[in-house]
Amino acid sequence: MFYEPANRDRDLLPHDPFKAIVAPRPIGWISSLSEDGKPNLAPYSFFNAICAAPPMVMFCSDSEKDSVANIRRTGEFVTNYVGAAFTEAMNMTSIDAPHGVNEFELAGLHHEPSHLVAPPRVAGIAAALECRLAQIVELVDAQGSRTASIMVIGEVVGVYIDDAMIREGRFDVAAAGHLTRLGYRDYQGPEGYFEMIRPNWRG
Ligand SMILES: Cc1cc2nc3c(=O)[nH]c(=O)nc-3n(C[C@H](O)[C@H](O)[C@H](O)COP(=O)(O)O)c2cc1C
Repeated sequence: MFYEPANRDRDLLPHDPFKAIVAPRPIGWISSLSEDGKPNLAPYSFFNAICAAPPMVMFCSDSEKDSVANIRRTGEFVTNYVGAAFTEAMNMTSIDAPHGVNEFELAGLHHEPSHLVAPPRVAGIAAALECRLAQIVELVDAQGSRTASIMVIGEVVGVYIDDAMIREGRFDVAAAGHLTRLGYRDYQGPEGYFEMIRPNWRG
């Protein structure tokens, strides 16, 4: 089989395989603050580390979502490590809630202050990266036409690791039980593959 993305045979492939081919992807669980200091939390799987000196991460949003708007204004964010214990809570924070809804409260999560940036981290997580905004890139396609997607690049200025997750001088990935995003509705956790459906604000 071969197809160009715009001309996929939807009878043969009803759902886009793109994200299943570029998988697994880590999930950046992004906390940020609105200009008036309200916390915001949302998962992004177009997320990764992109270089090490200095350490930098990026996430990419389909549009100007709350996380992007907040970071554009405040210049700071935190990426929270999604351990398997936070699977349902992470999913809950992806809800299409109206602007200003606090996803921490919605998902029954608490937060703890970061060391160097104002946005808090999720309480109880294995690790978090405190970031300062380096660049916002409005993506263009191969023709140079503007797309709706916006990539946020941050420099990691602080690294939090739960002391219990350090074993023999290393971050213990097995203990942290990392969750990754595959294609469709699929995820991979320490127990293997599973499906999870995103919540919808209107139920
Ligand atoms: C596991 C997972 C990964 C997601 N990855 C992305 C992503 O990479 N880009 C994006 O625009 N939305 C992504 N979403 C959807 C956002 O989390 C969702 O639109 C959220 O409401 C955005 O919140 P915000 O407006 O507070 O930033 C993802 C959702 C889930 C459950």
